[in-house]
Amino acid sequence: MKKLNFVVVGATGVIGRNHIAGVIENKGLAKLAGICDVNKEKCSLEAKKLKVKSYFSMEDVLREKEVGVVTLATPHPMHAEQAVAAFKAGKHVLCEKPMAVTVEQADRMIAASKKAKRKLGICFQLRLCPYVKKAKELIDKGKIGRIYRIYAEIGDIKTAVYYNSALWRGTWQGEGGGFLINNAPHLLDTLFYLVGMPKKVWGISRTQLQDTEVDDAVSAIFEYPDGGQGAIMANCNQLPAGRRWEIYGDKGSIFLKSDSIRFFKHNKMIHEVVKLKVAKHAGSGVVSSERKVNVLPGKSDHALVVKNFCKAVAGKEKMLCSGEEGIMSLEIINAITYSSYAGEEVTLPLDRKKYRDLFNKLKEMGPKAKHIPLQPSPIEK
Ligand SMILES: NC(=O)c1ccc[n+]([C@@H]2O[C@H](COP(=O)([O-])OP(=O)(O)OC[C@H]3O[C@@H](n4cnc5c(N)ncnc54)[C@H](O)[C@@H]3O)[C@@H](O)[C@H]2O)c1
Repeated sequence: MKKLNFVVVGATGVIGRNHIAGVIENKGLAKLAGICDVNKEKCSLEAKKLKVKSYFSMEDVLREKEVGVVTLATPHPMHAEQAVAAFKAGKHVLCEKPMAVTVEQADRMIAASKKAKRKLGICFQLRLCPYVKKAKELIDKGKIGRIYRIYAEIGDIKTAVYYNSALWRGTWQGEGGGFLINNAPHLLDTLFYLVGMPKKVWGISRTQLQDTEVDDAVSAIFEYPDGGQGAIMANCNQLPAGRRWEIYGDKGSIFLKSDSIRFFKHNKMIHEVVKLKVAKHAGSGVVSSERKVNVLPGKSDHALVVKNFCKAVAGKEKMLCSGEEGIMSLEIINAITYSSYAGEEVTLPLDRKKYRDLFNKLKEMGPKAKHIPLQPSPIEK
């Protein structure tokens, strides 16, 4: 397999460093050809240490013929424009999550990748987590049967230091939203990767405590075409922090965390249990018992994402998360935001123009777009 030459853009930021390490770790498949960041001082210093070329603008990277892959570790409001430019220059793109800020931008990225016949991969490394892989295997093998209900939650705590750590954070203009769009994508991607996309979405997204104009407390409910129901909660005013997923099916149920999985199997299928000629479930002999599951050891880091990306470009593996799959969590994020501000239920796929108009309004309003609990939406109808 021919080695791919990578340039990591946004290289000196929090996640850029993981991508640099990920490329270096995959010596047989990838080469770090350079790093790019608008922070010239940090970028030069880092490039010197790594003994690679430094770039201070994407345009300079895209002019380099021998660069095959551009990794986007820049803030997500830049992803769409940078990805489209990279595809036009004939590069493959490995893009950090969320893939963009609006579904319309994500559509453009997917179309540009297809037009250029170049690969687009979205960095959802949690899909590689051994417990997530096990849950996927159980669901795909039909072990839990038809899914009736799902629940997922991410709770975390953010302080003012986090929101002040970079100018782009905590604003509609700079971050495209708040906790939901920047910190909940892994939760949502994992959920919809496991169980598929719903048809209808109702959301509330509010600023409960943080001193920002964007959401810090979000709840949403979903309905599936087959009648299944779901709910998620995402907020950064919570301790202890953590992520969890619950999936309830006809034959069994799964309780998933990033570091554990529990699998319950019912001795009778739920659709049969409800027809039993007994007044109550208790005493019917129906039980759901926990089964031991064998989880293979493994990691879910950026090095493995880079490895998969190289193999997917060579046609030797399926892309861990393509653009078409990466858009799923963004579709939900935009739909929740739309539902909350417009006070409407949303049918997916989300109306691209309606979301663009709302988002432009939120950016324009800035601090006035803050939606305080129990107050009417700041957007006039
Ligand atoms: N996969 C994960 O687990 C994970 C974790 C954290 C962040 N992220 C995502 O990674 C992205 C970056 O987040 P971060 O926390 O690393 O942000 P950050 O602010 O720490 O880093 C962003 C970097 O991009 C640089 N930059 C800005 N504009 C640029 C431009 N035009 N050209 C080149 N460089 C530019 C900045 O100087 C900075 O060094 C976000 O989309 C975020 O959601 C993903």
